[in-house]
Amino acid sequence: MKNKKDFFDLTTTKAPFIENAQKEGLIFIHQPYELYSENNQKAWKKLYALLYPKWERFANAKFIEGIRSLCLKPDRIPTLEEVNVFLEPLTGFKAKAVSGYVPTFLFFDSLKKREFPTTITIRDNRTLHYLPEPDIFHDIAGHVPMHTDKSFAEVLVKFGSLAEIAAKRHIHVTNEKEKIAKIRSNIQALARFFWFTVEFGLMHEEGDLSVYGSGLLSSADEIEHAITAPEVQRHHFQLEWAINQSFKYDHFQPLLFIVESFQHLYEEVQRLEEWLLSGRLDNVSPGEPHINENDLQIFLQEGNRRSCTP
Ligand SMILES: [Fe+2]
Repeated sequence: MKNKKDFFDLTTTKAPFIENAQKEGLIFIHQPYELYSENNQKAWKKLYALLYPKWERFANAKFIEGIRSLCLKPDRIPTLEEVNVFLEPLTGFKAKAVSGYVPTFLFFDSLKKREFPTTITIRDNRTLHYLPEPDIFHDIAGHVPMHTDKSFAEVLVKFGSLAEIAAKRHIHVTNEKEKIAKIRSNIQALARFFWFTVEFGLMHEEGDLSVYGSGLLSSADEIEHAITAPEVQRHHFQLEWAINQSFKYDHFQPLLFIVESFQHLYEEVQRLEEWLLSGRLDNVSPGEPHINENDLQIFLQEGNRRSCTP
């Protein structure tokens, strides 16, 4: 049985507050700031100290600008309210606290509304270097600084709008098996695009390579590996490759894609939309990520619901 002291803890996978919220089926929650333990605060402080010098060496210039304009504190976890005070006037984006896993449709559709589902727990102080789940450091220090840039924000909004298109475009397919297969393929293509750009993207910047992907920006080891390790395959972004490429979460990425600018990335999202509408995403290569039944059902339901809206 958990004692009262354990309740004051927001460590990822170990937080009673989050367990309770999930039991109640809550996705959007508040950030109970008073529950962060001393160890939670130490984890933020250590991560920030580990990452800051790496950001200075490897991060995209827009990310560095974003870190400055958000006024993130090196020594304590920020409240989402204080982050939003700086973020919202810049691009309209705001961080919104969630209890953990957010269904894919909801996650992408939130981006269209300029809302970023944000994990509020933080990784264990003793395992700072690897965490398979997102945490507040990944979401706030890894993702949100990029959301301060207008061009990048437009990429996210445009990308987010594709979830509804994917949900609605198979509404007239009568063969249920065929419909499910096409929706699964569309979700896989969108998830892979997101992975190889927003999470693990690289950019050519002033003759060098820089990191704009949040999975890299929140990993003290992988950020450097992504830029310097000779074994990493780095290729100019190719849409047909990215949407057909499986990936795994549990090791350093062997393959990364490079864009030229956020305008270039936006144009790739436009092409992704064209391909979605023309059926080119209906039969992508099978493999990771696995799309769970719940995600499929939500896309189906949203397709039905939104198609009936006058
Ligand atoms: Fe992420």
